[in-house]
Amino acid sequence: MEKKIILSGIQATGDLTLGNYLGSINNWVKMQEEYDCYYMIADLHTLTIRNNPEILRENTLKLIALYVAAGLDPDKNIIFIQSHVPAHTRLSWILNCYTYMGELNRMTQFKDKSLKHADNINSGLFTYPVLMAADILVYNADLVPVGDDQKQHLEITRDIAERFNSLYGETFKIPEAYIGKVGARIMGLQNPTSKMSKSAQDPMDKILLTDSEEDIRKKFKKAVTDSENSVRFDKDNKPGVSNLMSIYGILKNKNMEEIEKEFEGQGYGVFKAAVADAVVERLQPIQKKYNELLQNPEKLKAIYERGDKKANEKANLLLKEVYRKVGLIVD
Ligand code: TYM
Repeated sequence: MEKKIILSGIQATGDLTLGNYLGSINNWVKMQEEYDCYYMIADLHTLTIRNNPEILRENTLKLIALYVAAGLDPDKNIIFIQSHVPAHTRLSWILNCYTYMGELNRMTQFKDKSLKHADNINSGLFTYPVLMAADILVYNADLVPVGDDQKQHLEITRDIAERFNSLYGETFKIPEAYIGKVGARIMGLQNPTSKMSKSAQDPMDKILLTDSEEDIRKKFKKAVTDSENSVRFDKDNKPGVSNLMSIYGILKNKNMEEIEKEFEGQGYGVFKAAVADAVVERLQPIQKKYNELLQNPEKLKAIYERGDKKANEKANLLLKEVYRKVGLIVD
């Protein structure tokens, strides 16, 4: 039987957070044996905000290093750079002509980002989900492992694919979001009712994957909790503690009941220290490998060049079919 196809990606916007890791890469690592996996660096999506060009190039390489350091085996996964596979933007143009302004207007991420970057509401930001749809559809992906904040983009991808299929016959596979039961939305440590975000102003609100052990411990120690001093999962009334429990649960492979039992009768001090231990234990080996890989840009280049080649081969097949169906001359 043919393996199912997975595609996902992360923007090259610099330091990733523990939320990015737990919501995406951590799940990807588990999928590499069972599926045909395509993991890209979404450098084109990064252009929707203003970047320093040198830093964007650096961040792209760093993200490749991080993918590998976090456990993605370049022999088992196709790791590539979005802008190196022109089929994405070519398909994206076509899909733009099958996507309605009204649909894009409903995207909450567009609304959020427009507020955050009020001086730069460019049309790339508006059509961003269409490029994301092209990323996914051009590989005939079955599953897209992402965090909860990308769910709406997956829904619009499915709508666009279904619309196209109903006009031109079966062309695109209808992909499904793969969202982990826990970890799909890691919240800020200071602001546990909003998601942990790379762009948070307060450094204490987020754990960066590159944070030192000392910083990680300090940030968990200062994490906002409540006055009950009892480790109990209750998202609505105890968002801070519940978020820490989710983080601990994923890293230790424990469910919420097990965690409640483990810390019964113990205060938040002990619990927070245990969460910090678990995070440090997971991140330290990743950081070590990451730093080693960054010393070897040639190796990183070889990884993406191999991935780019395979991704191009696959994506061009479907693009050709789409071109033919909509009436472009294809040789
Ligand atoms: P990006 O770069 O914003 O985020 C990368 C991944 O991290 C997840 N994530 C979180 N998960 C849990 N808790 C959090 N606090 C948290 N913050 C972020 C995101 O859900 C995402 O899975 N548009 C995408 C990149 C992209 C893409 C694609 C993804 C471009 N094309 C095609 C999948 C398929 C983005 O901006 O993710």
